[in-house]
Amino acid sequence: MLIRSLLHRAIHEGTILLRNHQKCSTVWRKTHHCSALIYREHSHDIQTVRMEPLLLPPVGDRSVRLHMLAAPVNPADMNMIQGSYPILCPLPAVGGNEGVGEVIEVGSDVTSLRPGDWVVPIDAGFGTWRTGAVCEEEEVITVPKDISLLGAATIFVNPCTAYRMLHDFQTLTPGCTVIQNASNSAVGQAVIQIAAALGLKTINIIRDRPNCAELIDELQSLGADYVVTEEEVMSTGLHRVFEEVPKPKLGLNCVGGLSGGLVFSNLDYGGTMVTYGGMAKRPLQIPAKSFIFHNVTLKGFWLTQWKRKHKEDKAQLNAMLNAVCDLMRGGQLSAPHCVQTPFHQYTHALQATVQSHGRKHVLIM
Ligand SMILES: NC(=O)c1ccc[n+]([C@@H]2O[C@H](COP(=O)([O-])OP(=O)(O)OC[C@H]3O[C@@H](n4cnc5c(N)ncnc54)[C@H](OP(=O)(O)O)[C@@H]3O)[C@@H](O)[C@H]2O)c1
Repeated sequence: MLIRSLLHRAIHEGTILLRNHQKCSTVWRKTHHCSALIYREHSHDIQTVRMEPLLLPPVGDRSVRLHMLAAPVNPADMNMIQGSYPILCPLPAVGGNEGVGEVIEVGSDVTSLRPGDWVVPIDAGFGTWRTGAVCEEEEVITVPKDISLLGAATIFVNPCTAYRMLHDFQTLTPGCTVIQNASNSAVGQAVIQIAAALGLKTINIIRDRPNCAELIDELQSLGADYVVTEEEVMSTGLHRVFEEVPKPKLGLNCVGGLSGGLVFSNLDYGGTMVTYGGMAKRPLQIPAKSFIFHNVTLKGFWLTQWKRKHKEDKAQLNAMLNAVCDLMRGGQLSAPHCVQTPFHQYTHALQATVQSHGRKHVLIM
């Protein structure tokens, strides 16, 4: 009778009785509910994403329960929902790949995390657009709490991509130049700031827009040396810029199409262009003469692949994260310009991400 009434209360309160096979004892473990942004099919229609209640599994010996604090809406998240990203989650899926959560509860065998820690998911596909999560200890990595909440929520994808691309493809010394397109993107803003901290000069291409002067000021205040529109590069070129700084050894292409060609054709002899995004959804237009006469190299970069390659090597992951956090602490790197959006207003954030000239939106749970 007592057991039956306890069981009834347990089901009512979301607590379930589990047998812990390893220790051969019976333990009470509590389940919780959270709210999550779930999609059940791949579609370009953002109405496919709906807020739903989700039952979280109980915390196991090696798992942790998180309260998600903030999570950005990135273009790659939308590509995953649309079904056009190279890795897709089994459906139904919770949206979002990046975000910061606070550890609320840890399993008995968890050694690296404590309640109160801030953590971010290591791999893509975590499903960060939710108020709570239960995951394995190894799925997340700690971020220090002395950086801003927005900084923590947006640190492990875009700034780390910028950091890797500035370090892994060309030997760049202070005074060298880097050219990029989509310079106002979150990656672009991080490139400007990390490059400035390294003593590099940046040439930053943006798309023309009604408030162009405002955007130029904004990027210059981050440390951009030159900000030019695609139209200016096409009509007058960068001759004036190259009277002041050397031609770039490194080009970063987030767009493809004609814009990628503008980055490529302005590289120095022996330079490298790294493509990390395809925002224009158009094939790269590349002049043959840059290959023939300038010996320029084309490369690609995908942070997810880099992280997967180094997933056993927490020291490498931590070294990158610490370097980026140090820049944030030192005031040399800030979170991207963004709009903080209450979680329940998620449709607004998704809509803005698929629009031209939209601001980055960060969901606040
Ligand atoms: N390979 C990797 O490891 C990696 C890592 C991080 C991000 N990424 C990729 O990098 C890209 C930027 O990500 P993010 O989070 O930094 O983006 P974001 O902050 O949302 O900014 C999006 C950027 O794309 C530009 N854009 C949007 N639509 C465009 C179009 N049709 N043609 C040309 N430019 C367009 C925007 O310019 P306007 O303001 O002019 O619209 C803006 O500069 C995405 O493709 C993302 O998937 C790749």
